[in-house]
Amino acid sequence: MEIIIVKDYKELSKKASNIIASQMILNPRSVLGLATGSTPIGTYKELVRMNKEDIIDFSNIMTFNLDEYHGLDKYNNQSYFYFMENNLFSYVNIDSQNINIPDGKAENIDHECKSYEEKIKNAGGIDLQLLGIGRNGHIGFNEPDVKFEAFTHLVELDEDTIKANSRFFDSIEDVPTKAISMGIKTIMHSKKILLLASGEEKAKTVYDMVYGKITPELPASVLQLHPDVTIIVDEAAGSMI
Ligand code: GLP
Repeated sequence: MEIIIVKDYKELSKKASNIIASQMILNPRSVLGLATGSTPIGTYKELVRMNKEDIIDFSNIMTFNLDEYHGLDKYNNQSYFYFMENNLFSYVNIDSQNINIPDGKAENIDHECKSYEEKIKNAGGIDLQLLGIGRNGHIGFNEPDVKFEAFTHLVELDEDTIKANSRFFDSIEDVPTKAISMGIKTIMHSKKILLLASGEEKAKTVYDMVYGKITPELPASVLQLHPDVTIIVDEAAGSMI
């Protein structure tokens, strides 16, 4: 694991976007795994700027998002589809055919999960997977206790996750209780992983992820077993390292 500690969120966003940009420049047909949550928003802003300035080109980039809420229509303003459109996709020259996000309204969830895995495989796998981390150590929506061998699947969200994510909804009752998420195994198959964490509330989780026991109780700890992981934290999130 390579750990980079930067001063603040602004520096984190710059550093992360530079790593993604260099992947895109080295391989303009890269397959990117993308994340939602508040942490990558600044990174996406930087990527939008670099695309506007013709530094990076999305026209042949393919993307796969980590997860989507179950039961939410993609046009619902809380869906991760909506989030991605509003924070990245609608501002860059990506081909909409190359965007992949699980369909939270799919009639046959099992089929949706299997076909998502197929699509990733047919694309040649993920070259660079961007991750945030939940307070409870989840990555994507792999909550504590998800077996490490899980592929894309339907997840029952933890109470802590529902509470944390309720800040984006009108009320906690509106937060979906399930989601479709890439599994730990899907994530671990990515060639490179870039994980971002910002703020003091993530400090203990970050410490445990890097130095703690490798356990499904803290899903991100499995990243200790991946050969190419870069973790960027600001001083607050890195304060216990
Ligand atoms: C959500 C997402 C995760 C994300 C996490 C942390 O639950 N499914 O992919 O990493 O929240 O979010 P934030 O970056 O807002 O702390």
